[in-house]
Amino acid sequence: MQLFDKTTPIAVIGAGAMGSGIAQVAAAHGHRVVVVDTQSAALENARKNLEKALNRLAEKGSISPENAAEILQRIRFTTEKSACAGCGLAIEAIIENLSAKQAVFRELETLAGEDCILASNTSSLSITAIAAACRKPERVLGAHFFNPAPLMPLVEIIPGIATANSVVETSRRLVDAWGKTTVLAKDTPGFIVNRVARPFYGEAIRIFEEGIADAATIDWAMKEIGGFRMGPFELMDLIGNDVNYAVTAAVWEAFFYDPRYKPSFTQKRLVEAGRLGRKSGKGYYDYAPGALPPEPVKSRESGEEIFFRILAMLINEAAEAVFWQIASVEDIDLAMTKGVNYPKGLLLWADEIGLDKVLEKMRRLQDEYGEDRYRPGMLLKRMAREGRRFYQ
Ligand SMILES: NC(=O)c1ccc[n+]([C@@H]2O[C@H](COP(=O)([O-])OP(=O)(O)OC[C@H]3O[C@@H](n4cnc5c(N)ncnc54)[C@H](O)[C@@H]3O)[C@@H](O)[C@H]2O)c1
Repeated sequence: MQLFDKTTPIAVIGAGAMGSGIAQVAAAHGHRVVVVDTQSAALENARKNLEKALNRLAEKGSISPENAAEILQRIRFTTEKSACAGCGLAIEAIIENLSAKQAVFRELETLAGEDCILASNTSSLSITAIAAACRKPERVLGAHFFNPAPLMPLVEIIPGIATANSVVETSRRLVDAWGKTTVLAKDTPGFIVNRVARPFYGEAIRIFEEGIADAATIDWAMKEIGGFRMGPFELMDLIGNDVNYAVTAAVWEAFFYDPRYKPSFTQKRLVEAGRLGRKSGKGYYDYAPGALPPEPVKSRESGEEIFFRILAMLINEAAEAVFWQIASVEDIDLAMTKGVNYPKGLLLWADEIGLDKVLEKMRRLQDEYGEDRYRPGMLLKRMAREGRRFYQ
């Protein structure tokens, strides 16, 4: 099995937000990194942003000014993909488009050495489909970093159906050595985080659409009662309603239109209106200077009802992911706490509340609405019936 150390050169393809962040992580851990992009302007931009980010870290005292300069010196920016020759690992972070990614992987296969591991940072595409473009799909896998890559600790490692175990193990060990928390996920839509987190947004919007509560009240309930760092509407405005809508639509489509993941008209209309959130100045909230934030209705009783409805949906989703062997119980909890800062792993939370209570909530919702969206998962039902817990 190939082993990596700090002398292994790393290639990053795509110099956008993710590519430059991943390059920073690898260079900070001693690797020489080559960043390749088709656009010189993107490379120049990435270089400037990295310099700024490293200087900021030096000013804060997180790294020394010499260290900041060394990290930047280790990164080379080029439009020539042939610079990938001799790299041990190439991480692709170009636009989210299957044929564009397949073309890059086909090129990398001829330009990088025979032993170079080829990873994709895709959020929503099938790793197996990307690997299918290659002669040696066994060396292709997913390495899904979160934004911003230097700060977010989670990386989902996703083998395609042809990926060699040794490729998974070597890559995982390397990313672990970069101080990241890796979790292993099956190659299915949304992997772990972007699948299990869907009800955080979707059910919150549903409650809003039904007129049960406004955005500020739902956000208040999730933070104050649930202990989440941000409410769903604040978070959607931060992520961008266009980006969040695109992920929801992609997951829904990829799951053959399972009603559990159905996107909402509310979010679609916001996107159509250009109310993308913070970046456009308006989303669910108004970010104009001087705009007053709306006051939530702070009723503990209805807040608890809202919180538990969303939490039960999240737990049901996490339990479904266990049932379909998307990842282990531990990795699902790690993914949600490290990837999206949930205050607690959902399956641990389920144990604490009692699976019977979660199941009862799901059954009540399904009974009231008569919608497949609220169907309780097989594993949740079986475990509740047998009085089992996710953790012993
Ligand atoms: N932004 C996020 O929050 C986030 C999080 C996790 C994963 N991702 C995934 O990471 C990837 C990159 O996302 P991003 O937000 O950094 O995108 P981005 O649009 O900021 O950057 C993409 C870069 O790729 C370059 N590019 C396009 N085609 C290329 C090609 N054929 N060869 C070389 N360079 C090419 C573009 O010039 C651009 O600089 C996507 O697959 C995305 O789904 C994004």
